[in-house]
Amino acid sequence: MNIVLLGPPGAGKGTLAALLKTELNVPHISTGDIFRSNIKNGTELGKKVQGILASGGLVPDEVTIEMVRDRLGHDDTASGYILDGFPRTIKQAEALDEMDTLDAVINFVLSDEEVVKRLSGRRLAPSTGKIYHIITNPPKREGYDDETGEKLIQRDDDKPEAIMHRLEVYRNETAPLIDYYRAKGNIIDIDASPSPEEVLRSVIASIKA
Ligand code: AP5
Repeated sequence: MNIVLLGPPGAGKGTLAALLKTELNVPHISTGDIFRSNIKNGTELGKKVQGILASGGLVPDEVTIEMVRDRLGHDDTASGYILDGFPRTIKQAEALDEMDTLDAVINFVLSDEEVVKRLSGRRLAPSTGKIYHIITNPPKREGYDDETGEKLIQRDDDKPEAIMHRLEVYRNETAPLIDYYRAKGNIIDIDASPSPEEVLRSVIASIKA
């Protein structure tokens, strides 16, 4: 099953994908995670995109499209995938249409106010990317990962200025994709405000319907 997760920054796409990939037994492909891994490993791509991610802007379409084309060519996508954070522009959506057929586009619906709360409280385990929230999903020991014991970090783009910029970029560049997929008839709106487990239940029910 080929699934795209669409929605504003911080709506819970990565959190849901981590649960859904086990249910569907398909890989979770997050363009943000791929960029962050390149930054961490100091690759040429990482050096090129580091400033863009920190500010909350978008990496140029050509770079992102080629990266996704390459990733979707890997053997582990034979039974499908969960694509998180791509497409983010109409140009990316058109490129994806040429690469593959989508079974469902899950559109996360969440208010800006809730987005800001979720992003400003998010913390990550640096080596595994495990996602926490200081209030709604805190680690057992404050500030440290439950599994590895390493110190949790805050993403550069989860600082207030970058959050506001990301929301603006979302509205201008990515929100138009809702109409794009609505016209194709394969979009499913999901209320992203309940708990991750409830969101998972709604998503599974809707893709099996
Ligand atoms: P990316 O990593 O894709 O960031 P994003 O889309 O802004 O999404 P986030 O990862 O911030 O949020 P999320 O929806 O996954 O929420 P999460 O589950 O973590 O992209 C980063 C950057 O890379 C972009 O800004 C851009 O520069 C670049 N980039 C990536 N893709 C690109 C593309 N296609 N084209 C160009 N550039 C690209 O949850 C957030 C918080 O909320 C967590 O603390 C979590 O614990 C909490 N939470 C989650 N769900 C719930 C819930 N149901 N209830 C309560 N709390 C919850």
